[in-house]
Amino acid sequence: MDSYTNGVKGIILAGGTGSRLFPITRAVSKQLLPIYDKPMIYYPLSTLMLAGLREILLITTPHDQAAFTRLLGDGSQLGLSIEYVVQDQPNGLAEALILGEEFLGGDKCALILGDNLFYGPGLGTHLRANTSVDGALIFAYQVSDPAAYGVVEFDDAGTVLSIEEKPEQPKSSYAVPGIYFYDEKAPLLARRLRPSERGELEITALNNAYLELGALRVEVLSRATTWLDTGTHESLYEAGGLIRTLQHRTGMRIGDVEQIARDQSWI
Ligand code: TTP
Repeated sequence: MDSYTNGVKGIILAGGTGSRLFPITRAVSKQLLPIYDKPMIYYPLSTLMLAGLREILLITTPHDQAAFTRLLGDGSQLGLSIEYVVQDQPNGLAEALILGEEFLGGDKCALILGDNLFYGPGLGTHLRANTSVDGALIFAYQVSDPAAYGVVEFDDAGTVLSIEEKPEQPKSSYAVPGIYFYDEKAPLLARRLRPSERGELEITALNNAYLELGALRVEVLSRATTWLDTGTHESLYEAGGLIRTLQHRTGMRIGDVEQIARDQSWI
């Protein structure tokens, strides 16, 4: 599969507790819940596929791994190679880079959160142009409730001034969406992080480590792009409605991994 990689691999983080969706997620992984007509995981997987990535690591809780394997297998039916690793405890997003170190084997990566949904014209082209980064590349997306996310402050030249995790007083209205591109230093930098007050290895702390090295770039995601995270009852319901409406209106399918694999001539 070496010829697939171009030195960039994909990691999907699909563990976590899903406590905001209790009781639904007491017995079922959030990332396996339906977003209209597909399991949630199809959407971030399709985003990585549109970015041209074919070697994927799927990180799950110990008890959900079997269900994801039933759904996606080794990925060969999609022209992909999918590997699995468990995260024993929800120790935070940055732990993905430590758990993924062996899989990455010194390659660069794109990390995407299993409950994040991206949709927009030109998104694939835009991501493909950006996958092979030196340092780290994150995105900024204007939202009405930045305090719920990592918030990035930047100047007119796009230089990052600060990133803060769930700040009480956000310095901008730009949230950091759950897709991040890192160079080969990410596992090393992640291993140096210490847990935050809430006991997690924060992705914002990893991004700050790149910022301190002067190696963090941010790009504003155009407002033509839709970014949703689907971790609450409201957002899950809204996402399902949106996919349904867009598919009915346009006749096109969103997050259809098989169709993408065929379009890319991978199967
Ligand atoms: P969150 O939505 O921040 O956390 P969660 O999924 O546990 O849900 P809740 O806050 O309602 O308890 O996580 C974002 C994504 O990252 C989601 O797809 C789950 C995943 N995740 C992990 O895989 N491991 C982790 O340690 C954490 C915190 C999240």
